[in-house]
Amino acid sequence: MSFSERQISTTVLVIGTGGSGLRAAIELAEAGVDVLALGKRPKSDAHTSLAAGGINAALATMDVEDSWQQHAADTITESYLLANPHTVEIVTSNAARGIEDLERYGMPFARENDGRISQRFFGAHTYRRTAFAGDYTGLEIQRTLINRAAQLNVPILDTVYVTRILVNDDGAVFGAYGFDLETGTRYLIHADAVILAAGGHNRIWRRTSSRRDENTGDSFRLAVEAGGRLRDPELVQFHPSGIIEPENAAGTLISEAARGEGGILRNGLGERFMGKYDPERLELSTRDRVALACYTEIKEGRGTPNGGVWLDVSHLPRETIMTRLPRVYQTMLELQMLDITKDPIEIAPTAHYSMGGVWVRPEDHSTDVPGLYAIGEASSGLHGANRLGGNSLCELLVFGRIVGQAAAGYSASLPAQTRSAASVQVARDEITHLLAADGSENVRALQRAIRNTMTEHAGVVRDETGLKTGLAELDAIEARMSDIGVHPDIAGYQDLAHAFDLKSAIMAARATIEAALERRESRGCHNRSDYPEMDKSLQVNLVWSPATGVTREEIPAIPDEIQAFIREVAVEGKLLE
Ligand code: FUM
Repeated sequence: MSFSERQISTTVLVIGTGGSGLRAAIELAEAGVDVLALGKRPKSDAHTSLAAGGINAALATMDVEDSWQQHAADTITESYLLANPHTVEIVTSNAARGIEDLERYGMPFARENDGRISQRFFGAHTYRRTAFAGDYTGLEIQRTLINRAAQLNVPILDTVYVTRILVNDDGAVFGAYGFDLETGTRYLIHADAVILAAGGHNRIWRRTSSRRDENTGDSFRLAVEAGGRLRDPELVQFHPSGIIEPENAAGTLISEAARGEGGILRNGLGERFMGKYDPERLELSTRDRVALACYTEIKEGRGTPNGGVWLDVSHLPRETIMTRLPRVYQTMLELQMLDITKDPIEIAPTAHYSMGGVWVRPEDHSTDVPGLYAIGEASSGLHGANRLGGNSLCELLVFGRIVGQAAAGYSASLPAQTRSAASVQVARDEITHLLAADGSENVRALQRAIRNTMTEHAGVVRDETGLKTGLAELDAIEARMSDIGVHPDIAGYQDLAHAFDLKSAIMAARATIEAALERRESRGCHNRSDYPEMDKSLQVNLVWSPATGVTREEIPAIPDEIQAFIREVAVEGKLLE
C-alpha cells in the first residue's frame, strides 16, 4: 500500500458525534460494551450545538393536564398523519425519561423559582412542554453528553470522515472505512454493528440553517450504498425564520423561541399577517404554515426590501430577551450589529430539517442492512410532513438509548462475523481514484449548482415542471462530476471530503426530487402548486432506493389510546398560490 492506513476493531461503531451519536455511545459504554465514535467536525461543535429553543416532554410542570398521549396526538396531527404511530408512541412515552437522563448527567435546564423545570410554548403544541436552557438548549445538551462520555472514557475521533460502510457477502455490516481530515491517514474500522448518526440533507438548499460541510446527505449515501433505503426524502422542513444577510450566513436560524416568547411577524407594509393564515394560533401556528405564510407574503410582493418579512421582539421586556433569547440577541449583534431589543429582524424561510431519512424499523431503528442502525436526523418515522419544534432533541435521547441497547444485543447474538476483502478494496480504491482526479470541474462549484437547483425547483412550493427541470439539471451536474479535480493541500484533506459530500448531495437531491414528483398533493411542508389539496390515497410513506425508485409504504393504524386525543387536521388558511 502506498498510503498509511490505521486498523481499529471495536464492538459498535458510531458515526456522528452530535447528540444522538453521543447518547447511543453513552448507553453502550454504561453497559460495558466497547464503542468508538467518529465525527467530521470538533465534537463540541457538532450540529446539535446549534439546536436552540428546546426539547419536548410531557412533564406537566407548567400545565398539569399534559400527558404523553397528548404529546403523541399533537405529533401525529401535525405530521399530517404521515408519522409512524409506533415511533411516536415510543418517543413521547419515553421523553420524560430522556430528560431525567440529562438531569442525571448534569444538564442545566431553566427552572421556575420553586425548582420545577420550566417549559415554554412551541408552535402547535397543546400545552407548554418544551424544556430549555435559554435558547442554547442544544449546546447545553451537547456539553452535557460530552462530559458524560468523557466520564465513561468513550473514545471519540472527531477528525475522521467516513466514506463507506463495509458489508460482507451476506449483506451484513462489518465496519466502516474513512480518512483523517488533517493527515489523510486512512481508517479501516472493524465493528460488529454500526450506528449511523450523521444528520440529514438540508445543506443542499442555498438558504439553510446548517453550516458549510454539514448535513450534505452523508447518512443517506452511506446507508443506500450499504444496501439501505430512504423514507420520505421529499419531506424537508423549512423553518420560517432564517436571517437573510450577510450572504455567507444566510439561513442562520432565529429560534422559534422568539415567537414562543411573544415575537410578532409583520410584512413589508407593517401588517401583522398571521391572522390571515391561522387566526387562532397566529405566530404559534405550525412551522409549515408559518413558513408558507412568510413565503406567500414575500412572493406576492408584500416583503421587506431584501425579500423577507419582519420578526419583532422589541416590545418584549429586555429581561425576557436577555434570559430567554440570549443567542438570538448575540447572533444579531454579531452578524448585523442589530439590537433586537430595539429593532425587528428581517427573516425568510430556511431549509432546516430532514423529516425523512434512512428507512428504519420503529422499535429499534434497525435498517434493511443487518447490523446497521440509524438515529436522529439520519433516521425517519417520527415527523411525517411537519415536525413539531423540540421533537428532534427528545427523539435523539430516546432512540440513542434504545439503539445503543439494540446494537449491543445484535453484537451479542453474532456467533461469528464474516468480513469481505473485496468490500474493503472497493473503499480503498474509491479514495485512491478520487485523489488521482485532476479534471477541470470544481467540486465546490458543483455543490453550489446542486443548491441552486434545489432552491429553484424543490423549495417551499414545488410543481411538476420545476421538479422535472430540477431532475434534468441534476443529470447535467452528475455528468460534470466525472471530470472533477480533487486537490488536498498542506492544510488538509478537506477537498477530498468535499468530493464525497458532493456524491452524497447529488444522491440526496435526486431522491428528494423523485419522491417530490410522486407526492402529487400538498401536505405539511410539501406544497405542490399543481396539486394544492391533500390526497387521502397519499397518506403513505414514500420509500426510495436507486434500484426501485419510489414505492409506497402503508402507515399503521393509530392506537386508540392516542386517537382519543387527536383533533381534525385542518388545511384552510394555507393559501397556496
Ligand atoms: O426554532 C428552534 O429553536 C428550533 C427548534 C427545533 O428545530 O426543534
